[in-house]
Amino acid sequence: MTSTVITGVGELTTNTDDPGTFTGAALVLDGDRVVWVGPETRAPEADTRVDVEGRAVLPGWVDSHTHLLFAGDRTSEFAARMAGRPYRAGGIAVTVDATRQASEAELAENLRRHVAEATAQGTTCIETKTGYGLTVADELRAAKIAATEVDEVTFLGAHLVPPGEDTDDYVDLVCGDMLDALAPHVGWCDVFCEQGAFDADRSGRVLRAAAERGLGLRVHGNQLGAGPGVRLATELGAASVDHCTHLDGSDVEALAESDTVATLLPACDLSTRQPLPDARALLDAGATVALASNCNPGSSYTSSMAFCVTTAVLQMRMSIDEAIRAATWGGARALRREEGDGAVGVLRPGARADVHVLDAPSAAWLAYRPGVPLTHSVWRAGHRVRR
Ligand code: NIG
Repeated sequence: MTSTVITGVGELTTNTDDPGTFTGAALVLDGDRVVWVGPETRAPEADTRVDVEGRAVLPGWVDSHTHLLFAGDRTSEFAARMAGRPYRAGGIAVTVDATRQASEAELAENLRRHVAEATAQGTTCIETKTGYGLTVADELRAAKIAATEVDEVTFLGAHLVPPGEDTDDYVDLVCGDMLDALAPHVGWCDVFCEQGAFDADRSGRVLRAAAERGLGLRVHGNQLGAGPGVRLATELGAASVDHCTHLDGSDVEALAESDTVATLLPACDLSTRQPLPDARALLDAGATVALASNCNPGSSYTSSMAFCVTTAVLQMRMSIDEAIRAATWGGARALRREEGDGAVGVLRPGARADVHVLDAPSAAWLAYRPGVPLTHSVWRAGHRVRR
């Protein structure tokens, strides 16, 4: 194992509490872990020294919500939306068709390409979902491919009722044979609880069946309108409820009183011409907020966490520190990976060595220089994956 000391850090964001941002700091990576963080003047020797010449350093982005197991694209649907058509859950069926027709090699290559694209922009921990297969065999194939490339895999059989199928029969399949087949290959189960997808009762059935098999729970909720998603997620102790675009006061209160993370997906809201979520209400009430890309071919075809951070600061009244924390520590919390040995979204001894160096003296430049690519170099689990 070789060790690396990173020096010349302009500003270091650690997401540890006291304080979370340092100047004059250095850090040491050994193998796949961070082993030391402190003042550069006291930095221990290491096999390699990398001087980042005054650049800002932060934990790699933790993208806790993507849908990268897909084939095809939906450019024409997007263009129609920009011409005034509304976004509808039914568009998912277009990607389901393309995905079922794709070979395993094509799906794997598409996934690798998108993960590489994200990594090059500073994302070092990614969750991705099934949900474009919607048969036992296609969902299983997606989960197995996903497990080779990403940190966390989520089963989303309850993404859409396949066209022409009976809703209750399909929910029976998801709760029975599909979960039996998928549970050994995934850590999480998600459900799209929304009008046009799955109502609260059916979503609850799926989530309870998943919990019985030991899976962690996640919910797509309150994306296209007010609805029961947040209530269901908090009642069932889901790790995260994602979208949260249309919340009322009781949703905000329920999130603030729960351990469920509110994962906001601003690129999706912009790409579907929805309002942006009220991050301020959530933060002021004391809820935990994460930011994620929701990279998928329908509602949010971007892997750029920097874009999400920029939008959160410029348009959602999040401070720079809040937005950066939400896209790193918040995502880690949504995946329950923010603590313990190998934690992500933090830079402290014992954390995974996931480091993002910006071509900027301060992380504030992510909002100050919107749209400018600022990733300089990236380490993932101690490997330098971009320089
Ligand atoms: O999170 N909301 C449901 N699922 C995805 C959209 C998938 C699609 O349109 O293909 C989302 O936005």
